[in-house]
Amino acid sequence: MLNEQWHLFAANRPPTAFTHLDSAAAGRCSVATLRAAAAYAEREAVAGAYVAQAEAAGTLEHARIMLAGLFAVEPDGIAFTESATASLHTLLWAWPLAEGDTVAVAPSEWGPNLDAFAHRGLRVARLPVDRDGVVDLDALPGFLAAAPPAFVHLTPVASHRPLVQPAAAVAAACHGAGVPVGVDAAQALGHIDVACGADAAYGTGRKWLTGPRGVGLIAVARPWWDRLRPAASAMERAAFADASPVLLLESHEAHVAGRIGLAAAVSEFLAADPAAVRARLAAVGRQTRAALAAVPGWEVVPEAIATGATGATPGSAITALRPLDGQDVAAVRARLLAEHQIVTTAAEPARAPREMTGPLLRVSPHVDCAPEDLERLAAALLAR
Ligand SMILES: Cc1ncc(COP(=O)(O)O)c(C=O)c1O
Repeated sequence: MLNEQWHLFAANRPPTAFTHLDSAAAGRCSVATLRAAAAYAEREAVAGAYVAQAEAAGTLEHARIMLAGLFAVEPDGIAFTESATASLHTLLWAWPLAEGDTVAVAPSEWGPNLDAFAHRGLRVARLPVDRDGVVDLDALPGFLAAAPPAFVHLTPVASHRPLVQPAAAVAAACHGAGVPVGVDAAQALGHIDVACGADAAYGTGRKWLTGPRGVGLIAVARPWWDRLRPAASAMERAAFADASPVLLLESHEAHVAGRIGLAAAVSEFLAADPAAVRARLAAVGRQTRAALAAVPGWEVVPEAIATGATGATPGSAITALRPLDGQDVAAVRARLLAEHQIVTTAAEPARAPREMTGPLLRVSPHVDCAPEDLERLAAALLAR
């Protein structure tokens, strides 16, 4: 049985016959989020796109304020983009970096980020980690002192397995060494606390915040605003002459309806109490791993979180299953969907090429996960 709050999360969404175990890919929008986006889109057709956007300025500003609060930056430090990937590319070209500079990452780093670093001409160094892949906070100061990278890039919540990095403690250690920190919050936003002291962070609204697709964001801490080198046209610079330089990172031709939808989704997240949502998601992860522990032919990848006085992290709602009998994970994912209407993710090694050796089946329920959902998945995995 779900308690009333988590039951409400499901009740606030369109009814579905699917079992949704893929929030780490994209969460399900609430009816309020969908209506807000649709109403705005209609208003564009009624009043004119730019008139509608001007009318909605207060809502967009409110979204900026709410997101800034989550990242603990100033509201003018938020720029809307289309995705986490788009955000990183924008940031990498705007950040004061030179070709050949070094970025230090954990082995669990999201694969496409490594490609983005290579595209920017950066060298990648390996942060010291323990045997679970969690950043080793004892070894970090020595690593930073020995060969300081241009910046450390951390993905606090990994995509492919239940791994939560001690982002705030890493940021503190980096700042102690004078090294800036960038954070990929694609899986962290709406999942764990993202106010970790990063110099720049970015993410997407569509996963754990359950906003519409196609809306990402960048959050930049105040001391970096004037050091950014945004690739903006003279026309944009003139239009934003009085604004924060961070707004020059924003995509100005955009799916504004999605941003309006995200405003509604973030309002709902805040009303649900972020701390309660985080605790619930950590519990959902534990519940999922326990429910799937005995499924023959699959091994539940253990959770890796930081413990100890500094840097202890909450759990992840993401579960990964390793095939033990040579199952084709993509085919299993397809079968679960076609035959059981269960939505999961086949996570191929390209997601984390520095540590993954084979594909994993990812299971990522949201707060409304009921024991029956997991029983259905366990039974479907057994059925061949
Ligand atoms: C850790 C991580 N970083 C980045 C991304 C890319 O996000 P987007 O699809 O919004 O570009 C993802 C997407 O799954 C992710 O899990």
